[in-house]
Amino acid sequence: MTRQVRHFIGGEFVDSLSGATFESISPIDNTVCAVVAEGGVEDADRAIAAARTAFDEGPWPRMATAERKAILHRVADGLESRVDEIAEWETRDMGKPIAESSTKDVPRAAMNFRFFADYASIAEDQAFHGPHGLFTYTRREPAGVAALISPWNFPLMLATWKAGPALAFGCTAVLKPAEQSPVTASLLAEVCAEAGLPEGVLNVVQGFGPEAAGERLTTSPGVDVICFTGESATGQKIMAAAAPTLKKLSFELGGKSPNIVMADADLDRAVAGSVEAAFRNQGEVCLAGSRLLVQRPVYDEFLARFVARAEDMTIGNPLDRSTRVGPLVTVEHMEKVLSYIDIGQNEGAKLLTGGSRVTAGDLARGNYVAPTVLADVDNSWRVSQEEIFGPVQVVMPFDTVEEAIALANGTRYGLAGVVWTSNLDTAHRVAAEVNCGTMWVNCWFMRDLRAPFGGTKDSGIGREGGRYSEELFTEAKSVMTQLAH
Ligand code: NAI
Ligand code: MG
Repeated sequence: MTRQVRHFIGGEFVDSLSGATFESISPIDNTVCAVVAEGGVEDADRAIAAARTAFDEGPWPRMATAERKAILHRVADGLESRVDEIAEWETRDMGKPIAESSTKDVPRAAMNFRFFADYASIAEDQAFHGPHGLFTYTRREPAGVAALISPWNFPLMLATWKAGPALAFGCTAVLKPAEQSPVTASLLAEVCAEAGLPEGVLNVVQGFGPEAAGERLTTSPGVDVICFTGESATGQKIMAAAAPTLKKLSFELGGKSPNIVMADADLDRAVAGSVEAAFRNQGEVCLAGSRLLVQRPVYDEFLARFVARAEDMTIGNPLDRSTRVGPLVTVEHMEKVLSYIDIGQNEGAKLLTGGSRVTAGDLARGNYVAPTVLADVDNSWRVSQEEIFGPVQVVMPFDTVEEAIALANGTRYGLAGVVWTSNLDTAHRVAAEVNCGTMWVNCWFMRDLRAPFGGTKDSGIGREGGRYSEELFTEAKSVMTQLAH
């Protein structure tokens, strides 16, 4: 089943002006699953112009928040009513197990619209009462046209994590989904059209980044805000490209997050949570606890249990409900992941399980890699420092909490961290001293959409979530009044 995917510009589904297309390949069997309009600079320009007109002249930024809220809830309803179809396309397009796309990604996409629609409708302004009758209040005004550039690992979830707040706070937007996973953004566009979103408010332009639609979104004077999730190196390029037009930026980038297991942890919970933190979504998770640090007294026991549980995960066709580990997004990405397994062993890591492709039966046609554990690594090695973004867990022992914190902070990244402990003091000390944007204590991947989300160091710029998204997608204005007394 091959789908035709077009751009969505000014409320219409359209082809590229050049007529160019590209193929999206399913990692399940490396067959074509979609033929997609390939957006060039001129297509991005059309989408930006549509968003610009909708912002400068259309009803959206001027609408009462209650009215916007009703429309955005209809978008959420539409996503929920098509959950099976959308989840299946997400899985086909990028390989995520359907058990997750149908119960997590699509419901969360709907929640991204609902939460921010509600949040924007109750957002408050500030007032300052100064001396001598000086009275100041703030207004939060929509920031303009937002470029939303998203990656392939959580395509719809991250597209809506950007589009939900952008629209809720009154911006108009151009979404550029990743070229590896274009389909669900197009389904989102269908849902928005059915929900009565005014034309030009959300535009979707498909295609690649460099010298194409993606890059144009970062250089066009018609774009006010860039909200980007992807690789740190891409973030650097976008920041440079956006400098001449001084755009507002929010970047969520890569990670190599420490997952710290203290000897006093509840090992049942720590093992179960750590396996998820390593191998959920085939390890294609920016927030993965991809560096496992285990305190020496429990190192051997923990690792034995971790490996046994990893080996229990069902690897298979992600369209099967029982699959927990699906294929990696592309052949090139699989080869990159496999090359890191070699690099790690050459550096001296001990391979405890996995280490190769899984090619049994039909799986030979897809990009399957077994959950892999590389133990006894040194934190300075490439496998400890570089983002592998696949089902490859590196593990190292430590003795003291000070040592764990130093190891945790010993990377260029600062996205997230995890600590498993039954000691309250240790939990909060580690939470305070690990340099990152999100810390989890005795859990992983939990979120509260009101809380800030983002990274330090090379993992990002800015925060999103709740009022942090409001700050991104609005401009604060002070109105000062001198009252005569
Ligand atoms: P990527 O950076 O290659 O691509 C992300 C998006 O940027 C795609 O839509 C791509 O077309 C676009 N793009 C690429 N070059 C561009 C340019 N010069 N100008 C404008 N747009 C451009 O990342 P990829 O490989 O798709 O995603 C995986 C990466 O994303 C991983 O490194 C991962 O850590 C990171 N990521 C971070 C998350 C976070 O929240 N911090 C969440 C998910 C992924
Ligand atoms: Mg694909």
